[in-house]
This record gives sequence, structure tokens and C-alpha cells, in this order.
Amino acid sequence: MATAHADKAEGFTRRAHPAPTSDTDRDAAIANPGFGTVFTDHMASIDWSDGMGWHSATIGPREKLSLDPATAVLHYAQEIFEGLKAYRLADGSMALFRPEQNARRFNNSARRLAMPELPEGLFIEAIREVVLTDREWFPDVEGGALYLRPFMFASEAFLGVRPAKEYKFLVIASPAGNYFKSGAPAVSIWVSQDYTRAAPGGTGAAKCGGNYAASLVPQAEAMAHGHDQVVFLDAAEHKWIEELGGMNLFFVFDDGRIVTPPLTGTILPGITRDSLITLAREEGLDVAEERYSIDQWREDANSGRLIETFACGTAAVVTPVGKVAGNDGEFTIGSGGPGQLTTKLREKLVAIQRGTAEDRHGWVTRLD
Ligand SMILES: Cc1ncc(COP(=O)(O)O)c(C=O)c1O
Repeated sequence: MATAHADKAEGFTRRAHPAPTSDTDRDAAIANPGFGTVFTDHMASIDWSDGMGWHSATIGPREKLSLDPATAVLHYAQEIFEGLKAYRLADGSMALFRPEQNARRFNNSARRLAMPELPEGLFIEAIREVVLTDREWFPDVEGGALYLRPFMFASEAFLGVRPAKEYKFLVIASPAGNYFKSGAPAVSIWVSQDYTRAAPGGTGAAKCGGNYAASLVPQAEAMAHGHDQVVFLDAAEHKWIEELGGMNLFFVFDDGRIVTPPLTGTILPGITRDSLITLAREEGLDVAEERYSIDQWREDANSGRLIETFACGTAAVVTPVGKVAGNDGEFTIGSGGPGQLTTKLREKLVAIQRGTAEDRHGWVTRLD
């Protein structure tokens, strides 16, 4: 609810923070933020209810939520989220990278989870308000960004299994350092034979919390075997490569051809994936969205026909894959380190995101 200090800004009611973090404490918190543990002072909040639709848009203090124990999300996981970064550009201004794509994907997720759609403009405005309000929280380190987490959950207290009649949309922000200080080191990947991430007709293409809960055991299995990340195969044949727990995959061949798994409903349509397809095609490369099997991957890596593999996503941008292991043994990709095209595409994308290269596709949305 609005307080005596409330005023209206851009359709959002603004509620003053009673005790903002001091400059000294904030500087200490953002000096070495890591990922996902430090949060800014404010959040955006919009409520939805059957009958009223979206209402009560507020920018206020980031504070604890009070939930009835019967709140639907706690029982049936009706929850979706997004992840994107606000960057400080070379000229000091603040920008988002393709936020309308996150808004669109959020609504695709909402439809799959029987939740109300949020107008794209409101999604972006909520993010913009949080970033501008907490602009002092950008980490002053190379590659630093504000990671934004928009999410929505069923907030109705009701135990029946049906779509809830009340929802909460929130945006919180977390200062994030450069994932990897100087380029990404190659990661080692474990092929999960016992677990799948998504089946045809399931929720693989939606960004819902349940997908990530189900990936924790296979990810732990990968780490127990000494690897960084898990790669999932398709649920029907256990043969076709899908994606990592939180990143899409690309395969680079010695004739300049690139393959990435197609969007058939079981993998998340990554915005980094889409951007890299565009950038690679601009380089004159032939990018195919087609199925690629684990057996072919092994054979091509061993014959030298496959020269690079990389994973991509908002958090780490582009990450080379150096080694792949599973129950049938392991194989190395190229030299086992970052490949040339992986490095080049990463640099091209980061330059656009940071405003040091021309934004030919209109991907950068300036906030101030
Ligand atoms: C399962 C999964 N795949 C792929 C991605 C990469 O998507 P994006 O490039 O939009 O960050 C993510 C991250 O959001 C993810 O969670």
C-alpha cells in the first residue's frame, strides 16, 4: 500500500525506503558481488486478480513477503521467471539487451503455466523503474551488470488444483560481477543418461521454476563425477542433444558450418542463442537449427570434423565446452580450450551489449 511518502511515477506508485543501504555498505557489497547473493534496495511489484486484472504497480523497498501457508505456488509450483542484465554502456548510460524478447518469452511461459499475461510495456517499465531507482548499485568492475529477476507466482490461498485467481509479479535486482574475468575457461560436461529435462508436450520451453528443481539432481550427478555442467538428451530416444541446465549449445565444424538444436518445444529459446545465430550468419557462416546426436558428437570430435562446441546464456554469455563425459567414457573437443569462433562471437556480442560496437539490429534499449 502507498504510504504518506507515496507519489506516482510512470504509473507506478513510489514508496520510499525507510532505511536505504549506506554508501559505505553498498560500496562494500558491490565490490565483489559474485552472483545472486547481493540485492539492491528496491523492487517492483504488480498484482493481478480475477476481475481487476493488473493493478497496484509499486516501486518500493525490497522486503519480505508474507504468504499464507496455503498459497498456491507453494503447493503446485505455478511460477515463472526471467533473467536479464542491465549494463552500463561505454558512455556511462544504462541499457538493457533485447528486453522485449524476455517480455515475450515471459508471456509464453505464462500461457503454458495457465497464468495471466503481462503487457510487454509494463514488464519493461517495471524493470526500468528498478534499474533507475537503484542505479548506484552497478558494480564498478569490468563486465559488471545489474542482473534483473522478473518473476510471477500464484498468490491465492487455495489448495484446489486449478489456475489461481491471484498472482504477484515482482522484479528484484542483484549486482553481478563478470562471470569470468578474462574470457570464459572451457567447461567440462556430463551427459545425463538417467535423467531428462523435458519431454514433448511438457514445460521445457517455458521458464518455470519446476524445470530447475528437476535439474538439480542431474546437475549434482555431473558435479559428483567431476564435471561442471550437465547436458540433457531428448526424453523419447535418449539420443539427441538438447541443452545444458541453463544454457543452449552450438557445434562448430571444420567447414565453417554451425549446428544448434532446434526449438521443438523441449528446450528454452535462449535470447543469446537467437542473437548468436544472427551474428554468425552475418559472418557468412551457415547456421543450421537441426538435431545432432550424442554418438555423432563423439564421432565428429574424435575425427576432428567438429572443432568447437560452446554453450550460451545471459549469465556467462558464451562458454566453451572442452570435454564431454558420460557412462561410455569421455572425449575432448578441439584442443580442449576456447576455440577461435567461440571467442570471436563472444567478443562481437559483448561489444554490442556494452555499446562499443554498432547496434545494427536495435538490440540495445537505453534506459536514461
Ligand atoms: C534452460 C536454459 N536454457 C537456455 C538459457 C539461455 O537463455 P538466455 O540466452 O535467454 O539467457 C537459459 C537461461 O535463461 C536457461 O535457463
